Amino acid sequence: MRSLSHRIHTARPFNVTQPFRTSDARLIRNVLAFCFVIFGIVRSPLFVAAQPAPKTAEQRADALLKQMTVEEKIGQLNQAGGTYRRDMPNDEELVRKGLAGSVLWASDPGAINKLQRVAVEESRLHVPLLIGLDVIHGYHTIFPPPLAMSATWDPALVERVQTAAAREARAGGINWSFAPMVDIARDARWGRMVEGAGEDPYLGAAIAKAQVRGFQGPELGTPGHVLACVKHFAAYGAADGGRDYDSSYVPDDLLWNVYFPPFKAALDAGVGSLMSAYMDLNEVPATGNYWLLHDVLREDWKFRGFVVSDAEAIGSLVTHGYARNREDAAWLAIHAGVNMDMASYTYLQELPKLIQSGKVSVAALDELVRPLLVVKYKMGLFENPYADLSRLPGVLNDPATPKLAREAAQKSMVLLKNDNAMLPLDKSGNKYRSIAVIGPVADSGPAQVGFWGGMITGGADVVTVIQGIKEKVGSAIKVEYASGPSIQREIPSNFEFYPGVKLHAQKAQSPADAQAAFDTAVATAKRSDLAVMVLGEDALMAGEAASNGTLRLAGRQQELLQAVVATGKPVVLVLINGRPLNISWAAEHVAAILEAWEPGSQGGNAVADVLFGDANPGGKLTVTWPQSAGQEPLYYDHMLTHEPETKPDFGSRYQDLKSTPLYPFGYGLSYTNFAVSNLKVDKLKAKLGESVGVSVDVQNTGAIAGDEVVQLYVHQQSGSASRPVRQLKGFEKVGLAPGEKKRLHFTLGKDELTYWSSSEKKWVLEPAVFDVWAGEDSTGSLHGSFEVLP
Ligand code: BGC
Repeated sequence: MRSLSHRIHTARPFNVTQPFRTSDARLIRNVLAFCFVIFGIVRSPLFVAAQPAPKTAEQRADALLKQMTVEEKIGQLNQAGGTYRRDMPNDEELVRKGLAGSVLWASDPGAINKLQRVAVEESRLHVPLLIGLDVIHGYHTIFPPPLAMSATWDPALVERVQTAAAREARAGGINWSFAPMVDIARDARWGRMVEGAGEDPYLGAAIAKAQVRGFQGPELGTPGHVLACVKHFAAYGAADGGRDYDSSYVPDDLLWNVYFPPFKAALDAGVGSLMSAYMDLNEVPATGNYWLLHDVLREDWKFRGFVVSDAEAIGSLVTHGYARNREDAAWLAIHAGVNMDMASYTYLQELPKLIQSGKVSVAALDELVRPLLVVKYKMGLFENPYADLSRLPGVLNDPATPKLAREAAQKSMVLLKNDNAMLPLDKSGNKYRSIAVIGPVADSGPAQVGFWGGMITGGADVVTVIQGIKEKVGSAIKVEYASGPSIQREIPSNFEFYPGVKLHAQKAQSPADAQAAFDTAVATAKRSDLAVMVLGEDALMAGEAASNGTLRLAGRQQELLQAVVATGKPVVLVLINGRPLNISWAAEHVAAILEAWEPGSQGGNAVADVLFGDANPGGKLTVTWPQSAGQEPLYYDHMLTHEPETKPDFGSRYQDLKSTPLYPFGYGLSYTNFAVSNLKVDKLKAKLGESVGVSVDVQNTGAIAGDEVVQLYVHQQSGSASRPVRQLKGFEKVGLAPGEKKRLHFTLGKDELTYWSSSEKKWVLEPAVFDVWAGEDSTGSLHGSFEVLP
C-alpha cells in the first residue's frame, strides 16, 4: 500500500497559473480530512492508552538490572575515592569497567566530565555516575554554615541559600551533595556542631526540610538541583565528651524525641539519600546497625531512597571491633541495608565472595542496586550527566548569588551584647576618626568559609572583615589593621595532610615574632579611637576532627583582648567561629559583642553592614552558650529533677560555676526593641487529640525597623515520663517597622503534644496540664496554660 506521503509527492503540484480544478480541491479536502482524523485519534484518550506509556524510573532500573552482571551490580554499590583516596586504584579504570557507581570528592568540572564520558561512552552499560561532594554551605559562593543559617530562624531563606548552592554545584557537574547535616548537637566541644542546626529538634526539623527542598527542588531531577543526602544517621552529635568519632550512648526516648526528628523531617521532604554515621550507637556501629537502618529507617519510616556509608565506615566496622574481618564487615553493612560503600572498597573486594558462597543472594544484591539506579534515572543523569562548561562561568558569576550570601550572613549574626547602644557605629567620621581592626581572623578567608567551604575553595575570593570595614567607611575613617599573634591548633588536624584539601592552618610564629605582633596590635589600639577585635577560630579549628576540650580562644587571643581593653579605648568584639567559645571574660568587660559565625564569601561586607547599622541584626542562638566547657553538654530542654534550679535557694549544680548558661537558647539582641504581650490560649480545656490555639502580640517598640523571632515553648506538667522544663513548639520570624504591632497565631496539635515515652516504649499523647510560654528567647516569662482531658 502506498503511503500518504507518497501520494502527496506524486500528485501533480499546484500551479498558480493554472485554473484551480475541482479534482485538486477534492485532493486537498481529503488530505485535510485525513490529517484531522489522525490528529483526533492521536489526541483521544483511547490512542493515549494504546501508546506504550513512558517507562518509570523504577521500570527502567529493573530493565537495566536484568542486563547487568553480578560484577557490574557490585560496581554500582562502590563509590570510588576520588581525590580522597589517592592510594586506591585509578577511578577512571574502575568506571570504565563498570566497577564504580559514584566518585567521591571530584570537584573539577572538566575532570568530572571526563569521568562521566568514560562511564557513559566507554563502560559496557553506559551507566552515569553520581558525583558526590560536601556542598554543605556553598560550592563557589560560600554561605554561612548551617549553624549560622539556623540562627536566622528563617526556613525560606535557608531554602533560597541551598537552592543557590545547588545551582552552582550542578552547573559544575556535582549532582549529589552530602547535605543536609542534621545532627542535633548539645555540646559545643564537638567540632561538627557548626554543620548542623543546633540543639533543638523542632527547629532542626524545619531547617532540615528547608535544606532538602533547596537542594533537590520540588522533586528529584528538577534542573539546576542536586540529590540531597541527610546525615549522619544517627546521634553523631552525641559523641561522648564532644570528642569527634567517639561512641554515642543515647536512650531510645532521646533518639525518638531529639535526635531522629530532623531525619524524619528530611525524609518527609523527599530526601533521596541518607548517610550512615561513623560512631557506635549504643555499642553497635551505626553503619552496621540493623535496628537503625532497617527497623527504623526502612520498616518504620518506609525510606525508599538509598543509604551511603560515611567515608570508609564499612571497612572500619572491623576497626570498631564489631566485624571479624572485611568480609564480615561487608555482610553486616549489606544486612543492615547500606547501599553504597563510600571509599572503603569493601563491597568491591568482599561482595563477590559473599555472593559466591551464597551468604548474599543475587536477589538481595538487586534490592541494594535498584534504588541507586532509580535515583540516577530520576535525576535525569541518563539523559545528561555533564557539567555545562559553557554555562558555568555565567552561573558562578551571577551577581545575585553573592548578594544572597551577604543577606544570609547579615541575618545569621547574633548580637550578644550591646551596652549603651554602642552599636551601630557611626560611619561618618564624626564620632571616631580612626579604628583599629585587630585579630588573627580579621583578614582570614579560610576562617570565614569554614571547613567545607574551605575544602572546596581554599578560602579564596572572600571579602574579609578588614576589607569589608575599609570599603564601608571609605576615607571618612582611618582604618588600621593589626593581626596580633597568629593562631594554631595545639594538635594539627589530620585533614592538613589530605591531598584533596585546600585549607591550611596559619603559619606558626617564633615567640619573638608573636610578641612583636602582640605589641603592634596594642599600639595600634592605643593610637585609634576605637578597637574592633575580630577573634575566634581559623581554618580547621571547627568542623570534622576539630573538637575542642576547653573552648578557650586559641593562642594569645584572650590575652590580647585583655590588653586592648586595658588601653581604655572602646572595644567591640566580633567573633568568627563555628561554635560557642568561652567568652565569659569578654561578656563582663566588653561593651558590644557580635557573633558573626563563619560568615562566608561575603562575610566581611556583612559584618561591616551590621557594625555600621546598614543591617539590623536579628539572629538568635540555636545553641545554649555555656560559661565554660565544664558545663557541656548544655541545652535548654533538660528535665526538672528533684532540685529544680529555678528554686530560689538553689544556687548551682556546681560549687565553682553557675549552671545557667552565659546566653540562653533563642537569645539575640537587635538595634531596636520588641515587646511580646497579651498571650491568649483559645481553650482552657481540650479533648485528647484536639488542637489548642495560642496567640500573642509582638510590637517593635524602638525607633528603627527590625526582625524578631517570637518563640513558643510548652511544658507537660505530668505524664508517663518526666518531661523537659520547656520545649520549643512554634516560632515565627517577623519584620516590624518602628511602632508596628502584629498578632501571631500558633497551633499546638497532636504533633506538638505527642512524645515517645520511655516507660510506655511508644508514642503517647497524654491527658495533662500544659504550660505555655511565648517570648524572645527560651527564658520568656509570658505564660498561659491549658489542660488536655482524658
Ligand atoms: C564526613 C562526611 C562527609 C564525608 C565525605 C566524612 O569524613 O564525616 O560528613 O560527607 O567525609 O566527604
